[in-house]
Amino acid sequence: MAIHIALAKGRIHKAVMAYLQESGYAFPTYTADSRKLIFEDSTGTLKVTLVKSPDVAVYVERGAADVGIVGEDVLLEEAPGAGVYEIFDLGIGRCRMAVAAIAGKPVDMTKRITVGTKYPRIARRHFEQNHRSVDIIKLNGSVELAPIVGLADVIVDIVETGNTLKANGLEVVEYFMDFSARMICNPVSFKMKYEDIRRLVDVVKEKDLEA
Ligand code: PRP
Ligand code: MG
Repeated sequence: MAIHIALAKGRIHKAVMAYLQESGYAFPTYTADSRKLIFEDSTGTLKVTLVKSPDVAVYVERGAADVGIVGEDVLLEEAPGAGVYEIFDLGIGRCRMAVAAIAGKPVDMTKRITVGTKYPRIARRHFEQNHRSVDIIKLNGSVELAPIVGLADVIVDIVETGNTLKANGLEVVEYFMDFSARMICNPVSFKMKYEDIRRLVDVVKEKDLEA
C-alpha cells in the first residue's frame, strides 16, 4: 500500500522532493518546474501530491492523504485544532514571524494600529497577549505593500532571509515566533500503515535536510 504524502507547494516541496530523490526514491515524472501535481515513485511506495499549503491539513484530516508536510506557521494559522498527529519536525523551512514596518519610520505601538497579514489568527493572538489594540486586515499575499500604500501601519508576516522586507523598504519591529516544516499524519493511516510511515520517517530523519 503506497503512502500518500500531501506536500505544501512552494519552497518546501522542492527541498523535500530533492531529499526524497537523494534518499533513493525515484520519481520519473517529477521536475522542479513541472505543472504536474501528482508524482509516484518507481517502486510504488510513495505517492506525492502538491497541495496549497493551507489545504495540507484538510487532506490529511479527511484521510485523502496519509501524511502531510507543511510549515508550522500554516498549521497554527489554518488548522490549529485539526484532528491530525504531528509526527516529525523536518527542521527545514525555518522562518520567523515578525511585525514589520517602513524602515526608519517608527510606529507608535501604544496607539491602535492597523495590521496587514496573511496570518490574522497568529497576529491577533500576539497583539492580545501584549495588550495592544489593533485592527487586522486579512490579506492573501504581497503583504509588504500594505504599509507602503497606506493600507496598514505594520504587517505581520514570516521572514526567512529578510530579502523581501529589504527589497520593499521595510524593517522588522519585532520577531515573536519561530517555525519549521512539520510532518503530520492521519490517525487512521498511522494505525493502518504504521510500519510504512515509520520507514518514511526514518528515511527523512537519517539525513540533515539543511546540509
Ligand atoms: C513569503 C512571506 C514573505 C517572504 C519571506 O512570501 O510572506 O513575503 O516569503 O521570505 P524572505 O524573508 O526570504 O524574503 P511568499 O513568497 O510566500 O509570497 P506571498 O506572500 O505573496 O504569498
Ligand atoms: Mg510574501
